[in-house]
Amino acid sequence: MSIKPIRKAVLPAAGLGTRFLPATKASPKEMLPLVDKPLIQYVVEEAVACGITDIIIVTGRGKRAIEDHFDVAFELEVLLRDKGKDDILKEVRAISDMANFSYVRQPEALGLGHAVNCARNLVGDEPFAVLLADDIIHHVPTALEQMMAVYRETGSSVIGLQQVPLAEVIKYGVILPETISAGLHRVVDMVEKPRPADAPSNLSVIGRYILQPAIFDCLDRISAGAGGELQLTDALKRLLKTHQIHGLELVGDRYDAGSKIGFLKATVALALDSPELGPEFRSYLKGLDI
Ligand code: UTP
Repeated sequence: MSIKPIRKAVLPAAGLGTRFLPATKASPKEMLPLVDKPLIQYVVEEAVACGITDIIIVTGRGKRAIEDHFDVAFELEVLLRDKGKDDILKEVRAISDMANFSYVRQPEALGLGHAVNCARNLVGDEPFAVLLADDIIHHVPTALEQMMAVYRETGSSVIGLQQVPLAEVIKYGVILPETISAGLHRVVDMVEKPRPADAPSNLSVIGRYILQPAIFDCLDRISAGAGGELQLTDALKRLLKTHQIHGLELVGDRYDAGSKIGFLKATVALALDSPELGPEFRSYLKGLDI
């Protein structure tokens, strides 16, 4: 079996971001700045570092800032050049040079499954990655890199997992695992947002996926599930009937940057780790009377 390389990544960014209102009333959640870059740039960089060349962003109303961010900022570049600010010019230019960006609209926020299906024509008949910008996983090797290693071995779809406290499974898709080796599981079944008593495990799906294109036929066949949304988990459950899916427990601290508290925690962690800001920020935090 020849294993096709993963060249494309789908970044769903059409959600309403209700947990982060009012900040997300007129600005996309995916553009919230984490230290000095918008959330979505972190996942673009994660994808590109894995050899992905084509970034497909699923957008909706009020998300224009995302397209502008990854476009060439001609006037800004001229201004920076005139002022001799070459370092920052290089950094700004690099953002639009990172990959081939394309955009597709999700007309209505009908759920993550629906958002991924909107990218069908741009993905075509090849395996692809899905990365959610609000799941920040801070680690080297990155989450997607860890999963790519499993994909290269198995050629199957791979989903990113982390163990969560049982009381919190209701926020996630959860798998029934058949464990292969430490941290690596064959997915036997899946359920979206189970009550703790009904959860098949505490292994929860987080925002990284490598998917076979057969997922699109499954997405066509699902109906509204948990929360009245078209759920990617329900399509994955269908995919299991014909295809293997592996689940990999991801190594790294994971932050739900789509929630206010998760975003604050991610900001502190990444700022402390920043070569530029870390030392000053650390001594500032140490000096706080808390
Ligand atoms: P979330 O459920 O975290 O995003 O979806 P949300 O709906 O924007 O946020 P809340 O829960 O209302 O605060 C995870 C990812 O899937 C995208 C979101 O943009 C986010 O990146 N998404 C979700 C879509 O693109 N379309 C949808 O219909 C739903």
